[in-house]
Amino acid sequence: MKFFIDTANLDQIREAQSLGVLDGVTTNPSLMAKEGIIGEKNILKHYVDICNIVDGDVSAEVIAVDLKGMIKEGEALAKLHPQIVVKIPMIEEGVKALKYFYDAGIKTNCTLVFSVGQALLAAKAGATYVSPFIGRLDDNSTDGLTLIEEIRLVYDNYAFETEILAASVRHTMHVVNCAKLGADVMTGPLSAIKGLLKHPLTDIGLAQFLADHKKGN
Ligand code: G3P
Repeated sequence: MKFFIDTANLDQIREAQSLGVLDGVTTNPSLMAKEGIIGEKNILKHYVDICNIVDGDVSAEVIAVDLKGMIKEGEALAKLHPQIVVKIPMIEEGVKALKYFYDAGIKTNCTLVFSVGQALLAAKAGATYVSPFIGRLDDNSTDGLTLIEEIRLVYDNYAFETEILAASVRHTMHVVNCAKLGADVMTGPLSAIKGLLKHPLTDIGLAQFLADHKKGN
């Protein structure tokens, strides 16, 4: 399972990278705005800064909602750095854009996916990644993990190569359950990744080992 961090915060990206288990970064317009990155020039520079910190794929989202605009923006984003993956919303023009970028050999991440049907369409259009938003489904009394399970089933039925990128991951158990269900990738906050470390018996056991070692010396 690949681990992506879902943020535009450079310090958090550096910290996740320093753990040695980071495979990429996802961003979106809201995450960029949260870091105060505004204006096209600053946004493009920020993507390059992120690419220079991590080794893996970095998702950069288009703002246009028409095919022509998505192609123009996506091509410019892809030219920024070889690690850039163009993030395209799951709308009709987006499906056409996914196919365009597939034919052009440019990696894509189809975002704002909330149903198996949308995920099927993204795979048919040749998306590199599909991003089901599990946390936002949970927020709406719908089990986000069930969507991961169902997309896995459909993709395996037809050996689609599109990778399931569990997105809108909010906490550590989302990560663990996505791994159980066979999501190819998860993207979440640093806290969800670092939560995997925690177990009180590890802390108690280590304290005991160190105390016993001290007694014997
Ligand atoms: O990866 C998608 C993500 O950025 C959305 O997360 O927590 O805003 O639902 P959230």
